[in-house]
Amino acid sequence: MVSTIASVINGRPAEGAQARTVASLNPSRLADVVAEVKLGDAATFGAACAAARRAQPSWAQIPAPARGRTVAAIGRIVEANKESLARLVTREIGKPAQEALGEVQEIIDTCDFFLGEGRRLYGQTVPSEMPDKQLFTFRVPVGVIAVVTAGNFPVAVPSWYLIPALVTGNTVVWKPAEYAAASAMGLFGMMQAAGLPDGVLNVVLAEGAETFAGLGQGLQAGTIDKIGFTGSTAVGARIGELAGRHLQSPCLELGGKNPMVVTPSADLAVAVQGALFSGFGTAGQRCTSLGTVIVHESVHDEFLAQMAAAVSAAAIGDPTQDVLYGPMLDQKFADRFEQYLAWIQPRHKVLGSSGVGRVSGANPRAGFVGDPEAGLFYHPTIVDGLHGSDALFREETFGPIVGVTSYARLADAIALANAPGYGLSSSIYSSDPGEVFQFRRGISAGMVSVNNSTSGAEAHLPFGGNGKSGNGSRQSGMWVLDQFTRWQAMNWDYSGHLQRAQMDVRGLAADLGFRLES
Ligand code: UN1
Repeated sequence: MVSTIASVINGRPAEGAQARTVASLNPSRLADVVAEVKLGDAATFGAACAAARRAQPSWAQIPAPARGRTVAAIGRIVEANKESLARLVTREIGKPAQEALGEVQEIIDTCDFFLGEGRRLYGQTVPSEMPDKQLFTFRVPVGVIAVVTAGNFPVAVPSWYLIPALVTGNTVVWKPAEYAAASAMGLFGMMQAAGLPDGVLNVVLAEGAETFAGLGQGLQAGTIDKIGFTGSTAVGARIGELAGRHLQSPCLELGGKNPMVVTPSADLAVAVQGALFSGFGTAGQRCTSLGTVIVHESVHDEFLAQMAAAVSAAAIGDPTQDVLYGPMLDQKFADRFEQYLAWIQPRHKVLGSSGVGRVSGANPRAGFVGDPEAGLFYHPTIVDGLHGSDALFREETFGPIVGVTSYARLADAIALANAPGYGLSSSIYSSDPGEVFQFRRGISAGMVSVNNSTSGAEAHLPFGGNGKSGNGSRQSGMWVLDQFTRWQAMNWDYSGHLQRAQMDVRGLAADLGFRLES
């Protein structure tokens, strides 16, 4: 049976005109309709923001430790439903079963971290310059958070916004990706089951243009206080511009062209494992996916041979089986990936599979698991011999493709790693601490892995990027609290008279001319 899903505002399915209905398809078996998705429009988004605004004061009145217990309940409910939510993620976006379980675990980890935040949410007591006066700081909720997320991590990445936003006393309007709507509604149902009052978390299913218009309307109406966005650099830039006009700074988690530097002192076998996982896991559709391997010229040929052998031998196909990766997330991503493949030049060396492009009967992949023609499956592609001017080197190429280039001096490798102008994740394989720290100092990325791949961030370290990867905002761990709270400074004078800061301050006389004679 195909379920029909619609936006939920104030605890109820959204009424009123629907923009249209689209089908969310299983990308590994396109004949399998996962859900019929009723899309709302800008007005739906606006109504959700208004509902979130109405619900916010009473949600913020609930003591933070009680909100933390709700987060604890969400974590336990997700844990009890781990397999079924992971199965839905695999069915809806084609993420292999083991990775989908990891994705759901990331929600549980996020809840485990933030359930205690309800009992911390520390402010400070600060001494005053003057007697009988005390200074304090408080974290206050920002208000209504509009969260727009991508579908490559349809439940884990949203939880990085939703959980800390809620525990700190904000209410939320969440716009998940349409092609991952069933997974999103799965998580939403679990969060509602934890007892969130109506209007505290609202879900809007809508297309990008309607969402953008809805964001504009909400900002204009004063019903959005902060936007969180995970998606492309191009859309992030537009959201940043829109938010800036309303004096807001959004939390942006954008694309990446994540480099991996392989030095002469690297353990090549470990580097190959890392390149395989981060280049081709989730069919290369993570924002942390490996973009280009920058390998020292002395080990280039050996690394490339090992990597090509590993990629050629990898199992690819049906994501319910034990495979390295499954299909593209959705038709839109398959179409875009074909455009990236067209950037391969005759002077490039292409390795990793028996073909390039969509896997089919006419373009087969040895050892393919399942029926390639049933879904959106693509050959893994390694492109060696990239130049700094190649589009494949400069642009994010969301999909199962990895570039390779070589370097002579580490300073050149760092310059190449920074050249595309992104700055999300990065990695170096080396056994020389001097090389590692030179790389860490020079790399523009927000995240640096040493002898580990560009993917696989843990849920309690700051996650985010610089340059084309974001505006410096960070998610996860204690760092995200600054996204969802604002500091309020309070001073309390109980002296009974006016004490003027800076002017009525009594100090002790010091002899600054004092010198030790020896
Ligand atoms: C993303 O692709 O938006 O580090 C997030 C990783 C995952 C999260 C990726 N834990 O690859």
